[in-house]
Amino acid sequence: MSSRSKNRDDLFLRNCAGEVTEQKPVWIMRQAGRYLSEYREVRANFPNFIDFYKNPEAACKVTLQPIDRFGLDAAILFSDILTLLPVSGSDLEFIPGKGPTVHNPIRTLEDAQSLKKVDVEKDLHFVFDGVKLIREKLDGRIPLIGFAGGPLTVASYMIEGGSSRELAKTKQLMFHIPEAYHLLMEHLTQITIQYLQLQVEAGAQVICVMDSWAGHFSPSDYNESIGPYTKRIFDALRASTNVPLIHYANGASALLKPFTGLGADVLGLDWRADLAQAVTDYPDQMFQGNLDPCTLYAPSEIIEKKTFDILEIVKDRPHIMNLGHGVLPDIPVSGVEAFLKTIRA
Ligand code: CP3
Repeated sequence: MSSRSKNRDDLFLRNCAGEVTEQKPVWIMRQAGRYLSEYREVRANFPNFIDFYKNPEAACKVTLQPIDRFGLDAAILFSDILTLLPVSGSDLEFIPGKGPTVHNPIRTLEDAQSLKKVDVEKDLHFVFDGVKLIREKLDGRIPLIGFAGGPLTVASYMIEGGSSRELAKTKQLMFHIPEAYHLLMEHLTQITIQYLQLQVEAGAQVICVMDSWAGHFSPSDYNESIGPYTKRIFDALRASTNVPLIHYANGASALLKPFTGLGADVLGLDWRADLAQAVTDYPDQMFQGNLDPCTLYAPSEIIEKKTFDILEIVKDRPHIMNLGHGVLPDIPVSGVEAFLKTIRA
């Protein structure tokens, strides 16, 4: 191993490669976000969130903000899993206070048949331009994570028309108009594979597939109608790239077994998952996580204790420290600092 690879800068990739390091690498989901005043400042120039994520310079700027402030062990491309919607014909709007809204949700076979054909390289060039720019600015300091949503999670926004508690309309399509559901999943799987391959070509050194809402489904429905699509994405990336692959889902402890078969190197867990049990049940599987983001509202002694509990569980294995879901807009920066300080103590 070269001396360069012993640097703390390589902590992240060394863990992905299975090395046990004394200090664990850390990044934070939504590390570039509204909890940072410097993010809000840039964000204020873009009334429309879509114009923001389509601007490579702005995306590069906010990607680097948490790196410069905290010295995290990986950067994540600033973008969104919903970039695939407008290019596929979904009329997407981010409405302040309401979140992502799709004005023409997919509810019928005709809707699914009228998806737009996507030219990934051309239609999403701003993402690849952003990746190149970020790599330039990072100048080898730490790796850059590229990402996409899992097809089920992206489909759920296209079908529901926004965030949803039950994913009832997604399940209606899956169970009652399976042809429409599978057309949509096929469309998303194909473009997601290209999208991620092009991110790697542009310079992404790690890929994360965020299938946040997969946990809404039973293991049998997951195995039958969701997992095979996600697995195709990991298989295609494994065959065409050599970057580490991360899978993340929220509230999906019951799906841990199916997730271990997807072909990802790392499985991101949320806080409902029992990490100690997971490492016992799957000793050869590497995990990421899994502190409850709301812990960061607590006094620093509590943050320290709960972070330390995680570190104890993973001390003899490779691991990536993270929250179990994204950092919330009103989480105090001091809470994030207490989390990072404990990991580095
Ligand atoms: O720092 C990073 O993590 C990289 C950037 C990133 C964003 N979204 C920026 C963003 C990433 C990786 C995502 C992923 C994403 N987006 C997911 C999967 C991960 C997860 O959190 O479960 C999902 C489900 C989405 C969809 C989405 N985008 C929602 C539900 C919202 C609204 C929520 C909110 O906080 O308003 C967004 C908008 C969004 N994407 C914001 C950010 C920073 C907030 C927009 C703003 O600044 O107003």
